Amino acid sequence: MVKNKNNRTIWGARIKKSSSTLFQKIGSSINTDKKLFKEDILGSIIHVEMLFKQKIISFKIKNKIIYGLKKIEKEILKNKFEYKDEYEDIHMNIEKRLFQIIGEEAGYIHTARSRNDQVITDFKMWITSANKEINKNLNNIIKTIIKISEKNIETIMPGFTHLRNAQAVSFAHYLMAYVEMFIRDKKRFSYNLENLSECPLGVAALTGTSFNIDRDYTSKKLGFKKPTNNSIDTVADRDFVLDFLYSVSTCSMHISRIAEELIIWNSDSYNLINLSDKIVTGSSIMPQKKNPDLLEYLRGKTGSVYGNFFSMLTILKGLPISYFKDLQDDKEILFKSNEILNNSIQILDEIFKNLKPNKKKMLELANTGYITATDLADHIVKNHSMSFRKAYNITSSVVNYAEKNNKKLNELSIEELKKIEPKLTIEVLKIFNLKNSVNSKKSYGGTSFDNIKKMILKYKKI
Ligand code: ARG
Repeated sequence: MVKNKNNRTIWGARIKKSSSTLFQKIGSSINTDKKLFKEDILGSIIHVEMLFKQKIISFKIKNKIIYGLKKIEKEILKNKFEYKDEYEDIHMNIEKRLFQIIGEEAGYIHTARSRNDQVITDFKMWITSANKEINKNLNNIIKTIIKISEKNIETIMPGFTHLRNAQAVSFAHYLMAYVEMFIRDKKRFSYNLENLSECPLGVAALTGTSFNIDRDYTSKKLGFKKPTNNSIDTVADRDFVLDFLYSVSTCSMHISRIAEELIIWNSDSYNLINLSDKIVTGSSIMPQKKNPDLLEYLRGKTGSVYGNFFSMLTILKGLPISYFKDLQDDKEILFKSNEILNNSIQILDEIFKNLKPNKKKMLELANTGYITATDLADHIVKNHSMSFRKAYNITSSVVNYAEKNNKKLNELSIEELKKIEPKLTIEVLKIFNLKNSVNSKKSYGGTSFDNIKKMILKYKKI
């Protein structure tokens, strides 16, 4: 390592030997936390403005530091900044460069702060933007799904439970279920903003500071609501990292479930949806193949996202409060999960834009598996004053009869039905019509066409 004064580490006056190259490499986080440069520079500018306002530093020094910081920001934006492993992280890389630009007066910048409060201030600001960015991406995918839903209100398919045909539904109803999931995700990301709204800057290493700083001022100027309350808790707290990683995990889990569902529907056995060539891949040996790799990628990446969440929980478990080096990993973990999720949302959006329902196959499949049996039971309850359980049993006999005679429910004649339940009239035959079945589910939140139209309209307005 170069030994002149400006190039030695910040603690070079105390620790005389430079650390081993291996330790420098391992201990350095600059390749990860350089992402925080904007927040770090803004935080420093507001910090020195406050120091000047409180008469802790002079007008001249404040201006010099701000000039230097803005110059550094330009260098970084133009890719002209040289990051050095030996300065460990973004905070010290910037401080060291400030010394080169403005000289010894750079030494005033770190008055009344520590990297411990500096890093979480930066990080909280960065995560605040990340939450908002994810919500923007979620808005896009919600819009895409609503568009497809609008075109598929009357596309009828089987609704599944246990992957067995259950009751007929509109394809749009499935799609709008995905919208609900993403709306909940959006709420979760918005809730996180509350826990990010307290500003750590000024708690210094762990005790606060003897300088007469104004934490309300820095909080406000940096976009926080208020300063944090306890200096030890502040440097130790990474709950806001967990909140974010949990929100990412839940959103990823939604994406993974949707992906899995689409993989099943796209399989040769189901063949309910077609994926355009843009979003499938081939096989190196089987020329006929079109594989849903992207959907599998989404499902797989959810594993990494869960892993990251658990890594962070594990890092925090058993860690006494205040700052420890263990915490440095929080950024790598969170940046990775954030990147995966943003990619995943955009990929799924692209998939939805390149997916077509196989309407014929959907209807065909909906016509199997005695899918209107529940409708028959409901009809008997409503028209022949019977309890649901009794109607259920009669319907079971009808299904058994149909199965034994190799018929679908809509292929049974009124005579055959009357043999099982004499009270039945010709009216019952309408019950086996799939469209009627879907449209009869008018209870709030059900799959009737009207309900779906109303929901779509409601969400379009929002
Ligand atoms: N790069 C460090 C981190 O991200 C900054 C805080 C360092 N503080 C310390 N006392 N070593 O955790």
